[in-house]
This record gives sequence, C-alpha cells and structure tokens, in this order.
Amino acid sequence: MVGGRIIDPSRGIDLVGDLLVQDGRVADMVERGRANRAVDTGLLATGMVVCPGFVDLHCHLREPGFEDKETVSSGTRAGARGGFTSVCCMPNTNPAIHSAAVVRYVFEKARSEGEVRVFPVGSITVDQRGERLVEMEELAAAGVVAFSEDGWSVADPQLMRCALECSRAVNLPIVDHCEDRALTAGGVANEGRVAARLGLKGMPARAEESIVARDVGLAGLAGARLHIAHVSTAGSVEIIRRAKESGISVSAEVTPHHLTLTEERVDGYDTSAKVNPPLRTRKDAEALLQAVKDGVVDAIATDHAPHTLQDKQCGFNLAAFGISGLETALGVLLGLVHQGQLDLTTLISKLTSEPARLMPFPHRLGTLEVGALADVTIFDPGLEWVVDPALFASKGKSNPWTGCLLKGKVVATIVGGEIIYKGDTVRIEDRGG
Ligand code: DOR
Repeated sequence: MVGGRIIDPSRGIDLVGDLLVQDGRVADMVERGRANRAVDTGLLATGMVVCPGFVDLHCHLREPGFEDKETVSSGTRAGARGGFTSVCCMPNTNPAIHSAAVVRYVFEKARSEGEVRVFPVGSITVDQRGERLVEMEELAAAGVVAFSEDGWSVADPQLMRCALECSRAVNLPIVDHCEDRALTAGGVANEGRVAARLGLKGMPARAEESIVARDVGLAGLAGARLHIAHVSTAGSVEIIRRAKESGISVSAEVTPHHLTLTEERVDGYDTSAKVNPPLRTRKDAEALLQAVKDGVVDAIATDHAPHTLQDKQCGFNLAAFGISGLETALGVLLGLVHQGQLDLTTLISKLTSEPARLMPFPHRLGTLEVGALADVTIFDPGLEWVVDPALFASKGKSNPWTGCLLKGKVVATIVGGEIIYKGDTVRIEDRGG
C-alpha cells in the first residue's frame, strides 16, 4: 500500500509511508518511496488513510435460518465494503448458535463463502428461551468468542448469575443486551416526547439502565467479564463508569446510530430508524459521544441488523427492529470527525485496537505491527457519496441515511494480505509487467 497516511492507534503510529505485506502478514512500514515492491500489494493510497482492518463486535449474519434477511456470504461482503475485516455474529438465528454443531455450521459457511473473518457468539440459553444454560464448555471448545442472548436479556437474575459464573470458568465474556422486557413490552420507540406525539408505545431508558445495573452487579459477584452491548442512554454510561471505577470487569460498545441520531428521526413513522434499543434524546447521544472520548465506552460496533423489505416496509408498530449498517458505519462516524467532535485517531482506535482487546480472538487483530495478519482498511476521508441501499452488498436495505450525502468511504479492504474489496477510485500501481 503505497503512499497513504498510516494510522495505527495500537502503536501510536501516524505517518505517511508504505505498508508492506508478505505471506499474508505485515512485513514492514517504511517511508514513502523506500518500499521493496516485491512485498507490496501495490495499492496506491495517496491521500487515503491506511489503518488496521475494522473489528465489529456486533453484527447479525442471520445464518442459519434467516437467509432471506442475510447470509454469511452477503453479510461478510457488506462487512468488506464497510472496511470490517473481522465480525462477531450474534446467535439469534434459527436454530440459535447454542450448540457446537451450529457453531461449526457458521464456521463452515464462513470458510466456504465468507469474505472476512467471522467469529460466532454463542447464545447464553438453549434456543434463547431463558430457561436452561447452553453447554458453555462445548461452545467454547468449538470456538465461540463470547456468549450473548442478544435481541433480549436473560430475565431471571439467578440464571444470569449462573451464566456469568460459567462464562468465567471458560474464560469468555458475556455480551449483554440490556432490556427489561416487562418494561418495554409493546414498545417501539424511545419513551418520551416524540413517541407521545406520534402515539407510539415507548421503551423507557430505565428498562435498559435497570438491567445494566443488575448485570454489572452480578458480574462483580461472579468475578466475570461483562461487555454491555449497544449502550444507548446517559444513565447507562454513568452506571458503567461507576462499575469500572469500582474495579468490575466491564466494557461497553456504542453504535454509529446511537451516537449520531436521536428519537426525532422516527418522526413520519420512518421504520428505517426503528431499532432496539431505540434512538434516544440529544442528551443521551451527547453523553455517549463523551463516553467514547473519555473511554467509558471502549468500542464502536455496528449492530448491523438486516431485515427483508417486507419486515421493514410496513406500519411502524409491525416493522422489525434493526438497521443495515455495516456499509455506512465509517461514513457516518467520519461525520463526527469532520464536524470536529471526535478526533480521527480515537475513532480508528474504537474500530480497531479497542474492540480487538475485548474478545479472546485467536489472532492478534486491530494492529499493523510487523508479523500481525495483514488485515488492512484503506479509506478516503474526503470522498463524498450518496447512500443508496440498492447498491449495498447486504440483503438488508433499510438504513436511516438513505439518500444522505456522507463524506468518507472505504476504498479497499485487505484480509490476510488479499484485496477482498476495491472501490472504483483506488488504483493499483503499474509495475511494468
Ligand atoms: O434492532 C435490533 N435488531 N436490535 C436487536 O437487539 C436485535 C436486532 C435484530 O436481530 O434484528
């Protein structure tokens, strides 16, 4: 990769130079013009940012069972276009990722059809019914990187405590979707002014915060590792901040949509903005951004949740929750950088080195250190483009930025030294045959 601005937050690197790759690994990083062309992909990266491949801790690939919404093939192609070289996929499939056999199935799909690295997350309970814990040892041996009941929470606190104890025994974190469903039942949008005006049933911030508080407490009791998924409220941020201060092993992620959109976005009953947890208030979004900056929120994850057109093009109450977000994540987040609200290196760290340290990945990810797998993302921070979901690789076409002009786009994605995605604007150096 020739002549780009190489930013690798894992090692505090920000320089203009060439990144060399050999045998699928990072071979060297040298000043412009000193590269040995034999160990280079030849991608011309002048004016581009070259950084470690993004690591998404939270997406839905929908296989097995919901192939009409997404497949490992389409979802990982979407990941590649979004600059994600590794994705963790959630277990709310059919069957759920609740046995070694299903884990093996997802790995096999990833091996045969996947474009990027796929790391399955196992469910906490069988069929995600909240009744009986999965065989965590068996799933750990099969290669899951975490357990989660994503889509909802484990309602029974005693079962959740057992889950945390068992996950500790196998040394894997629990990724926690925090939602008290007794409080959100029938809800479709944030409880507040906008939902009231639109006549929509609300989902209160408290429904998230009470489970965040419960589970950081239980994680403390169990001495387990807890990762809070898609944090959406200022109150959750404060609970996580205090839990971290008290030494509980908790981490947190936030999505691009909760950082940049607010409840007003559902005005007009726009189902592309119907998501769980719901888009909250301006105050919440500001608290999330502050938490990204001060480190209370460790990572940015997409919660890419693709659905069919029928699932989303219906009345607001009936529509499925979820945004197809892998392909717009970077452009949306760079908006914060262009507006001076977030610095570029912090943003890249939240997509690379930070998520990479939160799960026990079998490889060193999120770094361009010599010898690491050559998973690399190249993006043009100034490239303007209009979001057109018809052009998405994802089968999910519902996206709240449809028709919006975004500034900044992934132009090439490299996994293990291989160019798996290349946009039209990036060229490969002519080496004269
Ligand atoms: O909006 C969401 N969609 N939130 C979730 O927690 C689940 C996800 C899905 O699976 O569609």
